[in-house]
Amino acid sequence: MPETTIATLLERLRSRQARVGVIGLGYVGLPLAVEFARAGFHVTGFDVDAAKTNAINAGKSYIPDVPESDLSAAVAAGSLRATTDMHALGEMDAIDICVPTPLRKTRDPDLSYVVLAVEAVAATVKPGQLIILESTTYPGTTEEVVRPMLEEKGLEADVDFFLAFSPERVDPGNQRFTTKNIPKIVGGVGPASSEAASLLYGASVDTVVKVSSTRVAEMVKLLENTFRAVNIGLVNEIALMCHRMDIDVWEVIDAAKTKPFGFMPFYPGPGLGGHCIPIDPYYLSWKARQTGFECRFIELAGHINGSMPHYVVERVGDALNAARKSINGSRVHLIGVAYKRDVNDMRESPALDVLELLSKRGATASYSDPFVPTLEHGDQTLQSIDLATALASKPDCMVICTDHSEFDYDALVESGVFVVDTRNALKGRTADSIFRL
Ligand SMILES: NC(=O)c1ccc[n+]([C@@H]2O[C@H](COP(=O)([O-])OP(=O)(O)OC[C@H]3O[C@@H](n4cnc5c(N)ncnc54)[C@H](O)[C@@H]3O)[C@@H](O)[C@H]2O)c1
Repeated sequence: MPETTIATLLERLRSRQARVGVIGLGYVGLPLAVEFARAGFHVTGFDVDAAKTNAINAGKSYIPDVPESDLSAAVAAGSLRATTDMHALGEMDAIDICVPTPLRKTRDPDLSYVVLAVEAVAATVKPGQLIILESTTYPGTTEEVVRPMLEEKGLEADVDFFLAFSPERVDPGNQRFTTKNIPKIVGGVGPASSEAASLLYGASVDTVVKVSSTRVAEMVKLLENTFRAVNIGLVNEIALMCHRMDIDVWEVIDAAKTKPFGFMPFYPGPGLGGHCIPIDPYYLSWKARQTGFECRFIELAGHINGSMPHYVVERVGDALNAARKSINGSRVHLIGVAYKRDVNDMRESPALDVLELLSKRGATASYSDPFVPTLEHGDQTLQSIDLATALASKPDCMVICTDHSEFDYDALVESGVFVVDTRNALKGRTADSIFRL
């Protein structure tokens, strides 16, 4: 029976008869669902948010990286639909779980979304199903948390059903590397699971990299994101150091990156943002602590990166000081509040910390961000102001938190308003009104 179970699944995947479910239709799940549909599978997206499932069924994309034409074509062709009805999970041959994995206030992993999604899968799990976790998480989650929940009714993983972990590596806003051409890491709980998961992804993405276990696959993702968090921490510390020594850190990085080997540029900024880099390393340090291991690099990088919004506010103080003004009572305008250039994602954005710190010091804050029309700040809702209008109102200081491409930086410099540039958006321009990070 198990022999035929895996053979049937592999055959359904090869022939594209397999029905694929994607749970969690956000920045990761929606592009993946569209890619599976493009590969020829019948895809059903599952989400608890009816606004998202309704939008998909109406052919509307709410993720900037998913062109509406691709989405609506898949929906019109009948190869993609979305639902909030989790009972339909039982009809799927393969299920990909892409739900959030945030931190609790204590910085411990919050697996509640994963647990809820796996409970829904477990309620209808059947022989021959392939289940893959994509959410970033600590090594051991698939084996220690997901597997026992799915095996509760007596089915055995890698024999009756198949289970794998495959981390998502998508970089929102990146035009060059997308779900399709970013190599996909796959680790199964056993050889049959690895084979089935590799076949599913092999049909939809250009390159599949098989690793020996789910734990390795989980760890790969955390190494990648910890690598970024630590290197950003290092370059932020170098930026603070360079400021003390009156050296332009941006010029240093630009020159250093001409080295063709052994160096990779990272850039300082107002702090970490997004759903990955500020969070994922703590999943790793939490798990390592269970074994008595202390992750010193992660803690130190977190400390430095977390201090950057304070440093930005210090630079605002420097700028205002030059005009014999204080933060208290000044009007400070933030330029760009999303966590990175040309995206609308506000999760963990350091601009929120900068805003909070400035308000606490008595500044009146406003902002411009074409991607973020409104912003909740304390009990207020701020509205984005067009940058030209903001310049005309002559605020006491501006802060470039996010260097969206469509801002008119020339007009900004010509206005003569003091500006703290945390992203080197004003590269090549010189004026007494510019205060670099
Ligand atoms: N955003 C990124 O750039 C990125 C990159 C790589 C990996 N990841 C990881 O991928 C995972 C998902 O991240 P995201 O950015 O797509 O999150 P997201 O918040 O954009 O999307 C998650 C979706 O899951 C839905 N959801 C939550 N609980 C659910 C449940 N029980 N059943 C069905 N749907 C549910 C939410 O409504 C939401 O639509 C996280 O683990 C994240 O760390 C994200």
